[in-house]
Amino acid sequence: MKQSGGTEDQKRRAGESAADAVEDGAVVGLGTGSTAAAAIRELGRRVDAGFDVHGVPTSHGARRLAREAGIPLTTLEEAVPDVAIDGADQVADGHLLKGGGAAHAREKLVDTAADRFLVVVDASKRSDELDLPVPLEVLSDAVPVVERRIEELGGEPRLRDAERKDGPVVTDNGNLVVDCAFGAIDDPASLAARLAGIPGVVEHGLFVDLADEIHVGTGDGVEILDP
Ligand code: A5P
Repeated sequence: MKQSGGTEDQKRRAGESAADAVEDGAVVGLGTGSTAAAAIRELGRRVDAGFDVHGVPTSHGARRLAREAGIPLTTLEEAVPDVAIDGADQVADGHLLKGGGAAHAREKLVDTAADRFLVVVDASKRSDELDLPVPLEVLSDAVPVVERRIEELGGEPRLRDAERKDGPVVTDNGNLVVDCAFGAIDDPASLAARLAGIPGVVEHGLFVDLADEIHVGTGDGVEILDP
């Protein structure tokens, strides 16, 4: 499912650029994936240098990486994030597709709880339109019902299989993931509303009008888009 033609240098530049925007004393939502990881590592270096930040992780993976980087952690019960930094699988017209790492439910929770949401991507993630399958996190009992509803909407649902484990991917929240191909998505807001209305869907991977800045790592720098 995950695909990226971007380089590690592009991801690092994007991650470091967003980490640059974090102020001393901030609470930071920590996204999931390889590009958000670059931001987490940079924040860890700043903590080493005396910076005071606390992180709210969006996944087990982000939590582990933050611990390794020495970033103190907190929760949404304790604090409102000043800023969240998170990756995306595809970016078009300021909207995002997320969930390639099956973390989009907690990501959307933390990213939207933050005062500012900074997206970090390599240049390969930019697209003229969103056309990758939309990941849905789904209650396991609801999968057949949700699949029928997706077909009624004109989509092609596919339960995501795990790698190095028999059977499906199980999310950090104990749910399954159904990837739904709709081809090019002409009206992301309308599709997002329809997906959100399907009983059994915990969260979908369309992030419509949620990003405040998009930091795109390029071959020789960073382009910051203001959607
Ligand atoms: C996790 O479920 C996703 O939403 C990630 O944020 C997304 O897959 C970006 O990951 P990369 O930065 O590794 O491409």
